[in-house]
Amino acid sequence: MTRGATIPARDRLIVALDVDGVEAARALVAQLGDSVSFYKIGMELAYGGGLPLVEELKAVGKKVFVDLKLHDIGQTVERATRRIARLGADFLTIHGFPQTMRAARQGAGDGGLRLLAVTVMTSYDDADLAEAGYSIGVAELVSRRAIQAKDAGIDGLILSPQEVAPIRALVGPEMALVTPGVRPAGAALGDQKRVMTPGAAIAAGADHLVVGRPVTQAPDPRAAADAIVAEISAAIGG
Ligand code: C5P
Repeated sequence: MTRGATIPARDRLIVALDVDGVEAARALVAQLGDSVSFYKIGMELAYGGGLPLVEELKAVGKKVFVDLKLHDIGQTVERATRRIARLGADFLTIHGFPQTMRAARQGAGDGGLRLLAVTVMTSYDDADLAEAGYSIGVAELVSRRAIQAKDAGIDGLILSPQEVAPIRALVGPEMALVTPGVRPAGAALGDQKRVMTPGAAIAAGADHLVVGRPVTQAPDPRAAADAIVAEISAAIGG
């Protein structure tokens, strides 16, 4: 059984607040109401004045994933992580470089913040890594960084749905595996290429699913979120 096996189905859906500004984010959260308990604030919203939403959402009982993919010198990563921990965020992303991961671990402390490492951006293929000077391919680098993340005491990983089963086998049951690229059957793919349905991603071993447009751009976002939670619930046998 994975560490995440007891997470309620609704807390496994993380809705990406990829909207145009803080007011639009607030309106979407109000519209979604009780149908969504976990939100992701990414770079665009954070740099558009959205970071105060972390405390706002926490104050009304929501969970918050701050997706800033930190990567800098150790001291800066450690101090930035400490600031985000103080906001009360539940998840924070950092890049999967060993030095960055160790610094973030120092900064996160022992409170509620859980660190998620981005192993290799899913927009990179082997040719992109070669262009950047790496001599190994994506699959090998993802595996190496997953092990390094575990060794650094990182709490979880961001993965594409296809990587969930092999990486779960590699890192064991403790780490949280969080996957974007999830599409309910029949939903528009947008720019996502290698997708899985919510049920298949959970069955493969994912703990949380990050979903944006299939909820935020649905004619009825609340119904779309409820349908995904129902599919997750069926996949975990709940
Ligand atoms: O709208 P959609 O469901 O594709 O949104 C997915 C969210 O997950 C977006 O916020 C996107 O930036 C993020 N993401 C992703 N693929 C990754 C990493 C993050 O789609 N590899």
